[in-house]
Amino acid sequence: MKHPTETDALGEFLISARSLAEYHAIFELSEADLRGRRILDCPGGAASFAAEAAALDADVTATDPIYARPAAELRELARTETERGSAYAGAHHTRYRWDFYGDPDNLQSVRLSAATRFGADLMAHPDRYVAAQLPALPFQDNSFDLALSSHLLFTYADRLDADFHLAALLELARVTHGETRLYPLVDHTGHPQDDLVTYLQKSLHDKGIPTTLRPTGYEFHHGATTMLVLHPNQN
Ligand SMILES: C[S@@+](CC[C@H](N)C(=O)[O-])C[C@H]1O[C@@H](n2cnc3c(N)ncnc32)[C@H](O)[C@@H]1O
Repeated sequence: MKHPTETDALGEFLISARSLAEYHAIFELSEADLRGRRILDCPGGAASFAAEAAALDADVTATDPIYARPAAELRELARTETERGSAYAGAHHTRYRWDFYGDPDNLQSVRLSAATRFGADLMAHPDRYVAAQLPALPFQDNSFDLALSSHLLFTYADRLDADFHLAALLELARVTHGETRLYPLVDHTGHPQDDLVTYLQKSLHDKGIPTTLRPTGYEFHHGATTMLVLHPNQN
């Protein structure tokens, strides 16, 4: 197996498979955030959040360009991408804190379970998974009570520029009538994106969208203990 070196970037966008427990910890989700709420997960990737949260009475729509692919192909991709991501984390284990997962083997096990659950839900409830990509989403204004965005923006700041980030955040805010929560605010090598965060906060403020930085108890990349929260537009 090829193990990336310390200087390797994580090539292409990884299709990762986080679980409800991970989303719960990352976004400090409460029961009130979930029950009966319309939630957008963008990007959904191969996460089992939509499937698991639906069982808790949340109405989740996941969106990601990969959902344009046939479901059988996507199920297989969820598994191979989980192995790729786990191998990457294991090869770069010193970049991470292991309090949440324990060790790389358990990380892989958690993610493979999520990928399997995602694959089953994709077959059973294809309507939950909408093929689309930022910065243009096929939803009406204020379609959701809460939007969650994990591991795309900031994570891939090496290939998505500041204009893309701003357009994507404005789009998430447009379709969401409550909060939009984003994590992490570091890139995939763990490098903090403070200048980008500051630029985006100012730009959003100028457009009437207040933002706050909110602590999260989840930490995988060292020091990544903050989420960006967009609040409803004041205009
Ligand atoms: C690292 S995964 C994160 C998935 C999920 N949020 C999680 O935390 O497990 C990144 C995802 O972003 C998706 N993606 C890439 N470009 C995108 C875009 N312009 N809009 C929405 N999703 C995109 C990729 O297809 C990939 O599934």
